[in-house]
Amino acid sequence: MDTIVSPSILSADFANLERDIKLVENGGADWLHVDVMDGHFVPNITIGVPVVKSIRKITSLPLDVHLMIENPEKYVEAFANAGADIITFHAEASKDSLNLIRKIKSLNCKAGISIKPKTSPEIIKDFLPEVDMVLVMTVEPGFGGQSFMEDCAKKIPFIKQHSPENLIIQVDGGINDKTGKLCRDLGANSLVAGSYIYNSNDIGFAIKSLKV
Ligand code: DX5
Ligand code: ZN
Repeated sequence: MDTIVSPSILSADFANLERDIKLVENGGADWLHVDVMDGHFVPNITIGVPVVKSIRKITSLPLDVHLMIENPEKYVEAFANAGADIITFHAEASKDSLNLIRKIKSLNCKAGISIKPKTSPEIIKDFLPEVDMVLVMTVEPGFGGQSFMEDCAKKIPFIKQHSPENLIIQVDGGINDKTGKLCRDLGANSLVAGSYIYNSNDIGFAIKSLKV
């Protein structure tokens, strides 16, 4: 499977969001990563349903929505209706992950489950045959531009070992050409990158550098 690169718009200029989405779309992005934060699950507030709905109208890229929120059960339907294609929730935030995975799939979205740096991959082992994607956080969720935590990437082989062949293993946080390669070598097949891509002078080159 080719690496799926999902640029995070958290590093875009929100006053020029359409322009910055077109930059990564024209630069060869596969998906668009949308970081939703509620100020409770993480100490930051970003964007919500109305923004996803507006983005849906201006791009054909699959919308990869990363919910860093409490009570994800309450909001997945609204994000699906707004045009999300992939909905990822945090295992730490859900009271019934299996039920939530099934709910997301019933909304015709791909279902992803994510774990924070201090969370053991053991807690999601039972869900691996059910989900479409696992998102391994390699920074504490909440902010872009933090440094990659290599120890977290060591969860990837465990996840791969206990997963069906076609599971997408995505890594998010501190990804650049070097840390991205490290994750791919460990078995990741999707990379999220915000600051690395948006701070680059050549966005197309930066996106390509995450695939080779
Ligand atoms: C962090 C977010 C990430 C963030 C990544 O909580 O989930 O998607 O945008 O930013 P970088 O690539 O700059 O670490
Ligand atoms: Zn994210």
